Amino acid sequence: MATQPTTNRGTWNSKLGFILAAAGSAVGLGNIWKFPFEVADGGGGAFVVIYLVCCFVLCFPVLVTEIAIGRKTQKNAVGAFTALGHKNWRFIGWLGILSGVLILSFYNVVAGWAFGYFIELLQGHFDIGGRFGEFISDWSTITLYSIIFMILTAFIISSGVSSGIERASKILMPSLLFMILGLAAYSLTLDNAMKGIEFYLVPDFSKVTLETVYNALGQAFFSLSLGMGALITYGSYLSKKDNIITSAALITLTDVGIAIIAGLLMFPLVAYLNNGDFSNIEGGPGLIFTVLPGVFESLSSPYGIIVGAGFFLLLSFAALTSTVSLLEVPVSYIIDEFHVKRKKAVIIMSTIIYLIGIPSLLSNGSSAFFTEFVTYIGSVSPVSFMDLVEHLSSDTFLPLGGMMIVVFAAYVWKKENLSQELANGNPNFIGSLNEKFIHFGIQYLSPTILGIIFLLTVANRFFGYNPFE
Ligand code: TRP
Repeated sequence: MATQPTTNRGTWNSKLGFILAAAGSAVGLGNIWKFPFEVADGGGGAFVVIYLVCCFVLCFPVLVTEIAIGRKTQKNAVGAFTALGHKNWRFIGWLGILSGVLILSFYNVVAGWAFGYFIELLQGHFDIGGRFGEFISDWSTITLYSIIFMILTAFIISSGVSSGIERASKILMPSLLFMILGLAAYSLTLDNAMKGIEFYLVPDFSKVTLETVYNALGQAFFSLSLGMGALITYGSYLSKKDNIITSAALITLTDVGIAIIAGLLMFPLVAYLNNGDFSNIEGGPGLIFTVLPGVFESLSSPYGIIVGAGFFLLLSFAALTSTVSLLEVPVSYIIDEFHVKRKKAVIIMSTIIYLIGIPSLLSNGSSAFFTEFVTYIGSVSPVSFMDLVEHLSSDTFLPLGGMMIVVFAAYVWKKENLSQELANGNPNFIGSLNEKFIHFGIQYLSPTILGIIFLLTVANRFFGYNPFE
């Protein structure tokens, strides 16, 4: 077939396979670890509405554009720009690869925590919550779990696109959905569940500030895996027959849906432990690791172990389909550009990324040097190496990358060419309202907002200027 790539770089077997893989990339630690607390801190239902707007209005055009660039060129995040005839723009791809490498280097460490918690709870070690700080500062234990996690990721990728990534997604994603629905249904039956839901979702507009909007957009962007070419890469294995717009809508819906359900699962558990009182609960992402094990302990046996281990297995599955997408970006790049065999590419990249992650692994108490690594201008408290890498990559590079991708598509590659690619598998696209919406997004709306986000992050994170005060 003329549309097939000449090199044997792999393709998805089915449209569903692509959607599950891309949704797997999207659904990750961000959804289950961070989203519920962003909601609770950002005004409950009010935040959810803002978040939905961010996903479907601001991020959607970026998501569609990345997939289209990938499918058009059938190339990796760097090669795609060259293949479109704009070699000078391939630096966007390099920035993407760098972001992916950096994000995976610390993401894998947190994934290792989640996996370690699964093993601990399987053994009924409910006291692990009180030992969280000790646990993450124990470098030998975390080394073990994070190496296992990286090997799992590498193993999936080394089996290829359809027999590795797609097959794993087809097992992991339905299991994840099944587990999260089962656990949420169970936790909604506990005493005081409704108090938890109230705390989670009742809108509180007094908490909505400009900073809330900024957080919602950053969270949406990260959660949809945008800005670094992960979806250019996944799109490059997609068939011309598939409708990109409907696929992107399903990916977004799954991502948002799972994030919202994660809160329905978590807050009733916390409410159960505290008899519905949230005043003493320290919010923030640490809660999953510090408070939840205590909740599991309080459940009558055998629910404690089942729900507890189930929860961290769920978290590990969510993380695994995301680490897979993060590793696939640099792997695909060196396969295409340096003609390295997939297995070799996987071994090289996973080893390099693991090594880059070691200072992050040591950033949580094992090494004072990496734990208190730098103090930003205008700040008094030092941040860890891991935080620095996160601030640089996910907070700074992703919005910058996303902005450049849409600017490139709108003005360099040209929006008409984008439309033509989107019309494959969607014959009525050209001239539709959808097309106008995507064009408006990539020409004006998304680049402006992403540009502002990027500048605010730089000013705020690195120069101590707080625009929200
Ligand atoms: N979206 C994932 C999460 O929510 C993380 C992730 C996977 C990611 N691949 C990515 C983020 C690519 C940005 C870019 O946890």
